[in-house]
Amino acid sequence: MKEIKLNHKSKSENKTAKPNDKTINKLSFEEISKKNLTQAAKLQYEIFPDTSAYSVYKAKITGKTKKLCLDYIAYLGSIPIGITGIYEIPEYSDTVWLSWFGIKKEYRKLGYGKQIFDYTIEMAKKLNKKQLRLYTFELWNNEAQGFYQRNMDLEEYYNNDKENKDIFRGKPKIFSISLTNEKVEPWNNKFINISEDVDSHEKSIIMMKKDGIIDLNECN
Ligand SMILES: CC(C)(COP(=O)(O)OP(=O)(O)OC[C@H]1O[C@@H](n2cnc3c(N)ncnc32)[C@H](O)[C@@H]1OP(=O)(O)O)[C@@H](O)C(=O)NCCC(=O)NCCS
Repeated sequence: MKEIKLNHKSKSENKTAKPNDKTINKLSFEEISKKNLTQAAKLQYEIFPDTSAYSVYKAKITGKTKKLCLDYIAYLGSIPIGITGIYEIPEYSDTVWLSWFGIKKEYRKLGYGKQIFDYTIEMAKKLNKKQLRLYTFELWNNEAQGFYQRNMDLEEYYNNDKENKDIFRGKPKIFSISLTNEKVEPWNNKFINISEDVDSHEKSIIMMKKDGIIDLNECN
């Protein structure tokens, strides 16, 4: 097994406020639906130019997937500034997973990420699951690592032989947080098929071009 770094912290140790904080406003949230799908897709693709979620969002809205999958846009006033979501891997029924979670560049480091994260936890708690987990790449999602270390309970490197070996170049990790009073257990490298998500990017780009969300000449 690869190195496992355990990082138990109490919530009271979490901080977002800094002495010279700018005042930040309360965000509002809207679930992604047919009405805001284009806006959601553009925003998500702007934040994650290498992993478009469009095919996943669309499958949920058109009823093509029956899996639990809740995605939200965060608004500052009327401006969409961030996205978040929760999904499940049916084999692991006591866990929900954080999906694409991010903020537009110009709104980062102001406390809005924490606000969106807290909202996601609130939504996850309503589903009566034991823990929320996420996978991230130490290398490719470098900016998010400090945030997760501060806000999640447990951090582990992930390795599983069934995954496409290319993903290990990014140094995948699993972070977990308890949604109950129980201490969260390590994930211990159970298979989560990260490779499939990486593959869905190309499918999403084709669908976005077909649906006129991005320019036909735009490629990634
Ligand atoms: C991860 C991400 C969502 C965090 O969003 P954010 O809005 O910057 O988060 P916050 O402002 O709440 O907190 C970020 C940091 O800013 C600091 N901060 C918060 N308010 C601040 C303020 N007013 N002034 C200065 N710093 C502040 C926090 O202490 C925090 O520090 P940390 O990263 O060491 O934990 C954002 O970096 C992002 O969208 N990254 C790109 C997408 C991505 O990688 N997503 C994760 C994929 S796995």
